[in-house]
Amino acid sequence: MKLFIKTYGCQMNVYDSARMADVLASVGFGPAVSPDDADLVVLNTCHIREKAAEKVYSELGRLKILRDERIAAGGKDMLIAVAGCVAQAEGQELQKRAPAVDIVVGPQAYHRLSGMVSRLLKNRDQREADTDFPPESKFDSLPEESKPQGPAAFLTIQEGCDKFCTFCVVPYTRGAEFSRPVQEVIAEAKKLVLQGTREITLLGQNVNAYHGESPSGSIWDLSGLIRELATIDGLNRIRFTTSHPRDMNDDLIKAFSDVPALMPYLHLPVQSGSDGILKRMNRGHNRDSYFTIVEKLRSARPDLALSSDFIVGFPGETNADFDATMDLVKNVGFAQAYSFKYSPRPGTPAASQAEQVPEKLKSERLSRLQDVLNEQQYSFNNAMSGCFTDVLFDRKGRKPGQIVGRSPWLQATHVEVPEAEADNLIGQIHRVHVNRGAPNGLIATLASDEEVA
Ligand code: 5AD
Ligand code: SF4
Repeated sequence: MKLFIKTYGCQMNVYDSARMADVLASVGFGPAVSPDDADLVVLNTCHIREKAAEKVYSELGRLKILRDERIAAGGKDMLIAVAGCVAQAEGQELQKRAPAVDIVVGPQAYHRLSGMVSRLLKNRDQREADTDFPPESKFDSLPEESKPQGPAAFLTIQEGCDKFCTFCVVPYTRGAEFSRPVQEVIAEAKKLVLQGTREITLLGQNVNAYHGESPSGSIWDLSGLIRELATIDGLNRIRFTTSHPRDMNDDLIKAFSDVPALMPYLHLPVQSGSDGILKRMNRGHNRDSYFTIVEKLRSARPDLALSSDFIVGFPGETNADFDATMDLVKNVGFAQAYSFKYSPRPGTPAASQAEQVPEKLKSERLSRLQDVLNEQQYSFNNAMSGCFTDVLFDRKGRKPGQIVGRSPWLQATHVEVPEAEADNLIGQIHRVHVNRGAPNGLIATLASDEEVA
């Protein structure tokens, strides 16, 4: 039987989709190339903004038509499952709004997916929904990863969030903060390295709030975990995302100066540069405390580059508040950033605030902010022209002989090599000479042996 998974949203969903494929492989599902030939389609969904959630309903409409037409033409049936954060937030309501959905499964319950599918295959008139936060951890019940992730892999170490920013659905959809035990993380990392992984990005909604139980029963924070991971032979690069400014403790900052495998790049969302807005967002940090962290990070690791998330048009955001955000951006200087118009999310405190900002104003602010952020990204990339840097190649590019990888600062780096050499270079960290920066990355040539030495 064939399975097609479509993933929306964050890296954690990408990780979860791979693990769902593992769960379903254990009951006989292999990959389908498209929904057309799938017996089961899983939409792994995102609820963070309205647009992301709405996409799911239009996709469900298309899938229903596809299934009806296929059956009418004498073809096979298709089970439709909705997983992820829309599933968690809407539960059985989702099946009322979209009756074509056979299965609803939340992000903490997908280890039970094979049972749900088996029951449905026996009784096609049933519906299945599981949005529990079960007492057992899904990680204890998941099968081994069946497919190597490749040279650059993701590893979920922490999930959920207890911070309750007033705009955000994550504490409701992903639940309370939970850290996987140290041993479990180390074992998974070692397995990845044996499969050829050289770079691991540790994932968590609040990854730097990590507090995992160590073998001795003591609790380790993220810096302790990173130091241990750095001792794994063959693991050359470590990253982590997403961090919260409140949990950026001194030990973790110090790790940037004394763990060479920890890459000099940090995603540290600030959301706004206005103290008033940060307070109403319940962020638990202000503009100055963000600046202080950035200073400390840069003195620990002078070549550290930062990326961030921004929300414009949070309820009550004035021109002066927005100017404070623009000012923060100019002060810090970001290598990359994501920016969004505030999207009211059902059930979150900010959604019911009176002073919602008009869409038009949000769009204007967003485009002004993005102009500056794009400019900063381009000049960060351009500043590397003529420099040498190391790239971990992880895939082939579109053109023959083109290979693509990441610099230490996560810049997508395109290099052209003789076609016969391309395969050998994938999975290798190789020095390159940067010819020029591009808006979204670097164009480089492979360094010669003398240049590498
Ligand atoms: N509206 C707009 N952006 C949001 N984000 C989270 N919730 C919302 C919302 N309601 C953004 C934040 C967060 C990123 C993952 O998504 O910037 O850091
Ligand atoms: Fe959402 Fe805030 Fe938690 Fe991040 S820290 S997941 S923005 S509630």
